[in-house]
Amino acid sequence: MSIVYLNGAFIAPEDAKISVMDRAFLFADGIYEVIPIYQGKLFRLTEHLRRLAYSLEHIRLASPHTDAQWEALFNALIQQNGGGNLSLYLQITRGCAPTRDHAFPKVPVEPTIFMMVNPMPTPYSTDLNREQGIKAICLSDIRWLRCDIKSVSLLPNALLRQQALDQGVDEAILIRDDLVTEGAASNIFIVANNALYTPPRSPFILGGITRDLVIELAQAHQLTCVEKSLTQAELMAADEVWMTSSTKEIAPITQVDGKPIGNGKVGAVWRKVAGWYNAYKQTLLNP
Ligand code: PDD
Repeated sequence: MSIVYLNGAFIAPEDAKISVMDRAFLFADGIYEVIPIYQGKLFRLTEHLRRLAYSLEHIRLASPHTDAQWEALFNALIQQNGGGNLSLYLQITRGCAPTRDHAFPKVPVEPTIFMMVNPMPTPYSTDLNREQGIKAICLSDIRWLRCDIKSVSLLPNALLRQQALDQGVDEAILIRDDLVTEGAASNIFIVANNALYTPPRSPFILGGITRDLVIELAQAHQLTCVEKSLTQAELMAADEVWMTSSTKEIAPITQVDGKPIGNGKVGAVWRKVAGWYNAYKQTLLNP
């Protein structure tokens, strides 16, 4: 049985209850993080904590814990759940005010802190010989203008992902003003002429931790990687398209809007970079 964390207590999920007055329930007034865990070890913790601090700062909520306290809490939850390959979900909300009021509570209230772990799905890069990647469609990016904050306000993302699933594909690639922003729950890379391209950081995308690691690995291996705006036409003409996220790692997309990307098969550059990613993960497990 899994154990979750709520406001200081490690408890069974069915015992974890929050008030209907919680501001995340009423206003989606909260932020979250998803951290991958390999064989019980937190992956890219410093980077996830930095983004957590960024999200909190930008919704004007003080962090309830120091980085060392967060790390201890994460490790306690991992232990309670027996370790292994997991994704850790952390949500922090502005807490409960006595009345429903858009403005922040006048009298300070405690934030709500919730954490759970889920089994990590087997990532695509476990099979570097695979031929087929995943399928995606392009959809209009209907989200707000602060997608750099990892807000729990995910209704547009949920609608977009569901629209993709309803059309028999796995991910929605979002387009704003003819430019690719990101996936419904991922960042996007393309390969053209053996170079990597990904949209630059901006308020329109989440600064993905996996995205940053791919850029770092490309630099370390002298693979050209350019952060620049990408048009939908550039996406469709790419040799390869990938999506990246903490839970999917680097996943090759071989079909967009029913059309093959490149030759419609998983590309050689993906194989190379996913291999580097796997090797990097090993350094965490065998330092
Ligand atoms: N989502 N962009 C969006 C909109 C996302 O939701 C995510 C990840 C990413 C990739 O970020 P990272 O590499 O740091 O995971 C980009 C998580 C996994 C989720 O919501 O479950």
